[in-house]
Amino acid sequence: MTPEVLRFADDGRIPNNPRLPALLYRAALPPGDPATAEALFARNGWPPAWRNGIHPFHHYHPNAHEALAIARGQVSVQLGGAAGPTLSLAAGDVVVLPAGVGHRNLGASADLLVVGAYPPARCRSSSPAARSSTPRPSRPSTWSRTPSPTRSPAAPGLPNRPLRGRLLGVTRGRPMAEPTDIFEILHGTRAMRRLKPDPVPDELIARILRAGASAANGGNTQKWRFLVVKDMAIKQAVQRWYRRAFDEVVGPRYAASAPPPGSTAERYHRQHGAVEYLTEHFHEAPVWIVACLEEAKPSRWSGASVYPAVQNMLLAARALGLGATLTTRHLLFEAESEAALGLPPGVHSYAILPIGWPMGKFGPVGRGPLRDITYLDRWGENWDALEG
Ligand SMILES: Cc1cc2nc3c(=O)[nH]c(=O)nc-3n(C[C@H](O)[C@H](O)[C@H](O)COP(=O)(O)O)c2cc1C
Repeated sequence: MTPEVLRFADDGRIPNNPRLPALLYRAALPPGDPATAEALFARNGWPPAWRNGIHPFHHYHPNAHEALAIARGQVSVQLGGAAGPTLSLAAGDVVVLPAGVGHRNLGASADLLVVGAYPPARCRSSSPAARSSTPRPSRPSTWSRTPSPTRSPAAPGLPNRPLRGRLLGVTRGRPMAEPTDIFEILHGTRAMRRLKPDPVPDELIARILRAGASAANGGNTQKWRFLVVKDMAIKQAVQRWYRRAFDEVVGPRYAASAPPPGSTAERYHRQHGAVEYLTEHFHEAPVWIVACLEEAKPSRWSGASVYPAVQNMLLAARALGLGATLTTRHLLFEAESEAALGLPPGVHSYAILPIGWPMGKFGPVGRGPLRDITYLDRWGENWDALEG
């Protein structure tokens, strides 16, 4: 398992650790079981030390490296100080923080449970778990004297390769803001229809909205408007129309259609189940973003100026570990749904994105071969570059 590597420079308040990066292991453990996390840490020579949460203020351990396993729930953790990136961690994720690296909890689900561990005493100085909150100590942090651990605490199923070689290096430039490769996000952004009702921090929704509002739009006129809906009564009122559209149109259509390209009967059946699930639980997603346009006469051109923003938001949600689905089914009862949403005259909705922490795992998208849908120069002529 290859971890994501995050480096942080001294920001003047938090020393961070110019020598060692933080490591993020996604889905390293089965979720929900703190004992498995403890066993993993112990097996790798990092004795587990506590079960608890993460402080909501910036803090760091001046003389101890620390491993945190998210055993249950989700948490947004800012690393590296006030300008550092925010990671969205879910049950099963493990993060390894070298001494000096700042971290704070920006918001968590009610069931958050974190297991903490430290490397053997030789990797610490006298106080094994000293916590320090800002202001930083007047003398340089003891991170510089804290030896590198020789084993990662979180590499299940892999040989415990020495970390030292991979960890050495001097921080240059800004910390990595996003931990995930863009192509990984593109190929792994699926309709995530089974969502937990747990709250999502506003800060993450704001990041998603900022990603949306960075999209291309005709003439940069920015006629898009985004309605964030958390009010259960409003969501329920729309869900009734969404369900009726399923009962009358979408359900029968699903039941009568063949699997699409790149899918199988079994996969399509599962998709149908997920679609039904979302139909029943639409309103339980903790946050909706309703993508709208202030445009009197909606047309194909209008849609082209809002769907790039919608796609940006889906990708941003994926990058933050949040599940979302592009939905338009409410438009089968457009007038009724838009009345329930309280949209003023001249404003129309183009998509509702239910957003929340996913119940299941993100998987790769299933699509047909590119060569079946791409032609070179003349319609119907294959492009050899795509063969094979
Ligand atoms: C224009 C559009 C409308 C969609 N409307 C809905 C919807 O109302 N409900 C829903 O569950 N999924 C909806 N989807 C999601 C698609 O069903 C989904 O992207 C497709 O099945 C592929 O699944 P995947 O992205 O998980 O691979 C919509 C997608 C698009 C692009």
